[in-house]
Amino acid sequence: MLSPRVALPMIGLGLLEYIPADAIKAQADSDDSNGDGISGKYNWVVDPETGQKALGRFGWKAGQTRLITQNMSAFNEDMGLTSHIRPTESCMRTQKQCVAATTGADDQGDGLPPVEVSDDIAKFVEFYTQNLAVPNRRNADDKTVLAGKKRFYDIGCQNCHTPRYQLPKGEDDHLEQQGQMIYPYTDLLLHDMGADLADRSVAGTLPAKEAQVEFLANSYEWRTPALWGVGLAQTVDAQATFLHDGRARTLMEAVLWHGGEAQSQKQQVLNLDKTGRQQLQAFLQSL
Ligand code: HEC
Repeated sequence: MLSPRVALPMIGLGLLEYIPADAIKAQADSDDSNGDGISGKYNWVVDPETGQKALGRFGWKAGQTRLITQNMSAFNEDMGLTSHIRPTESCMRTQKQCVAATTGADDQGDGLPPVEVSDDIAKFVEFYTQNLAVPNRRNADDKTVLAGKKRFYDIGCQNCHTPRYQLPKGEDDHLEQQGQMIYPYTDLLLHDMGADLADRSVAGTLPAKEAQVEFLANSYEWRTPALWGVGLAQTVDAQATFLHDGRARTLMEAVLWHGGEAQSQKQQVLNLDKTGRQQLQAFLQSL
């Protein structure tokens, strides 16, 4: 399997982490019992620190349960750096030079085996990733934006891009997140988005739907990405593109790649006239 990925935006992740697992699970409908064509299932993944299974919420396939494990997995798999959560170098057995390479691991003075990323660094990076804010909306009361918002709801985009969550009140932890009303526009669930978006084998064939590629997620399934800040993506980075492999140059292109469970919503967008499309686009740009 060879499948390109673009990095997901880093904003608002601490808020997504603090959405109660039950609020995410409650949206799943894996047998589509309400018959709306949208099933949505949650990923159930192994937490590399505890070894326990838990709800997956981060990454394009919701394969990571917490920011600390997402971060330490990225240090490990993307940068080759070990930590107490991911203590083993990410080399395949056949990569003999990788296995034999000198590591930069140091004794951290904590009685545990030496690692490259200390617990302090892990904590600082966790804090940073938890607290990068989401931008304010622009032009939220503009007439065209409001008309586009109505289109978004009339079409049913919010069946996957869940607009809003009330975060619970906590005790002493997560003071920055708790009690907030947030507007991420995602259900954090996996959806079959059709063959055109599916991962393929190196030979270009479509894998079987039974084949799990990241815990419960198969090649066709993607976690609904948050839409907050999406209207500023190309302000932050003029080269920014959309969808898991960055194939969409504009938000509207991203919408037109939707298939599978979102086939009906895509078709409704195709049926809009020019004004309707401009309204929907203005709404997305305001997020
Ligand atoms: C069945 C669930 C579902 C529905 C319905 C749905 N989406 Fe999506 N949306 C997704 C998933 C999953 C992705 C990511 C797909 C990928 O990257 O391959 C996505 C990606 C996007 C993106 C790109 C975001 C990014 O950062 O790359 C935009 C924009 C978007 N959707 C807007 C919409 C709009 C507008 C509608 C309604 C017309 C809609 N979506 C309906 C699930 C859905």
